[in-house]
Amino acid sequence: MNSLGEPIPHSDHAVSVSLPKWMDVIGYEEKEDRVISQLQLGYPRFVIHPLVQKLFDYCYSQHKTLRESDGNEAYFVFPSKSAAERAKQFVLDNLGKADIFEVQKGLNLFIVITSKDNVHLLKAYWQHSGEIISSRKAEYCLKVLENKIQKVNKLSTSSKEKIKTKISNLTGEDTKNIRLFPSGMAAIFFIHSILQKRNSSKNKLKTVQFGFPYMDTLKIQEKFSGGVHFFHKGDEEDLKALEFLLQEEKIAGLFTEFPTNPLLRSVDLEKLVQLSKQYNFPIVVDDTIATFANANLVEHIDILVTSLTKFFSGVGNTIAGSLVLSGQSQFYDELFNLIASEYEDLLWFEDADVLLTNCQDFEERMKIINKNAETLCDFLTHQDSIERIHYPKFVDVDNYKKFSNKINSGYGGLFSIEFKNPEVSAPLFYDNLEVSKGPSLGTSYTLACPYTLLAHYQELEFVEQCGVSKSLVRVSVGTEEINKLIEVFSDSLNKLKALKFNTN
Ligand SMILES: Cc1ncc(COP(=O)(O)O)c(C=O)c1O
Repeated sequence: MNSLGEPIPHSDHAVSVSLPKWMDVIGYEEKEDRVISQLQLGYPRFVIHPLVQKLFDYCYSQHKTLRESDGNEAYFVFPSKSAAERAKQFVLDNLGKADIFEVQKGLNLFIVITSKDNVHLLKAYWQHSGEIISSRKAEYCLKVLENKIQKVNKLSTSSKEKIKTKISNLTGEDTKNIRLFPSGMAAIFFIHSILQKRNSSKNKLKTVQFGFPYMDTLKIQEKFSGGVHFFHKGDEEDLKALEFLLQEEKIAGLFTEFPTNPLLRSVDLEKLVQLSKQYNFPIVVDDTIATFANANLVEHIDILVTSLTKFFSGVGNTIAGSLVLSGQSQFYDELFNLIASEYEDLLWFEDADVLLTNCQDFEERMKIINKNAETLCDFLTHQDSIERIHYPKFVDVDNYKKFSNKINSGYGGLFSIEFKNPEVSAPLFYDNLEVSKGPSLGTSYTLACPYTLLAHYQELEFVEQCGVSKSLVRVSVGTEEINKLIEVFSDSLNKLKALKFNTN
């Protein structure tokens, strides 16, 4: 097991970081020095990577020499002029002030400077929008800025083309309808802004979030543009309420996950598609959890978004996202043209190189992961100390299966555990579980985290009201030998039994 703060995997460009004990996760959220000082890096949208911070500082130091500074400045660097402008606008919309400066012609680096008390706004923009500079891009830019290497005139796009071809083969959609992004969130953020641009009226339309989603997906709908109608259950009752809303109000579009993170619910997509035709709105589906290997979605919906950081990559050493516009969409021409005019390719070419290498075994890996996760969940669901396993096979299975009719498909690799006596059992189980423990999912090695604490620490009451337990342990199953995995989980459960025995 990794010790606190070590990168997972052991790579300078890892996207996860080891938080091996429940109290480490709380310490991380509470910004305790004991934890924060140990972190070598973190998930790139949440923790600024040391190389990225070095780039920020370098860019700022160059600029400070050219301008008067009052010593009260904070700064972030963004990967394009328009991303920097959007970040600046976000600061202005929240009543702050900000300025943009280009760092060096040709490097596509733009520094946004604000006051120290508004730095949380730049941090929030970086996290929610996913328009980030990767650690590989930072490393390269620093070398160019420090005159250690010559700037490459034309960056290679060949890995990107090959990734698109692979996604095209997996989804059946033409490569011209596929776009790549520097993170999964950047794909979602982009399509959210496109849905707003479709609307010509002065009043901004709200979007609908159907089902409880990954947190930043809800945050961008809350914080940017028109706002959101949030149907957290995503069940039949919510479908009725949605239909009622649609009779009264035009919406910009609907977002849903298939299945949802972290409750692994599968919404009734057939019914949602029918409503989208009847009431004329686009549906955006995030299939990060089911993956291209298990679900067959794109021909039924309008837009598919995916965090390629997760199962598609499988290593945890690069962050990326994709968007697939369905050729069957009733909004195809309009969306195609808007996407073409607004899209910027901000995925760094070295990240694409790594992703291309990683995704070679994607289909084979998913077969093993599907099988491992199913065997493990079948085992865990019968254990005394476990209240419930959230897993697509155990809830809304008919909805899931309607869209998972691919050859060799399965239920994916993600599940969440709710314990009986959760406040005592979940921490004890987590602390004793001998797997990698930290943020992210979809790796070829099993990766667990107290997901609710990590993602929703500032809003635990709200998410509990949405049915998401604060003591949830989320597990992303890897390709390890299944008997070994069952043994590892049994060992940790046995520690709970021992506790029960001792306290009886
Ligand atoms: C379902 C889902 N969609 C999107 C994202 C965002 O992806 P990324 O972290 O690559 O921006 C996540 C991240 O965990 C996720 O779980």
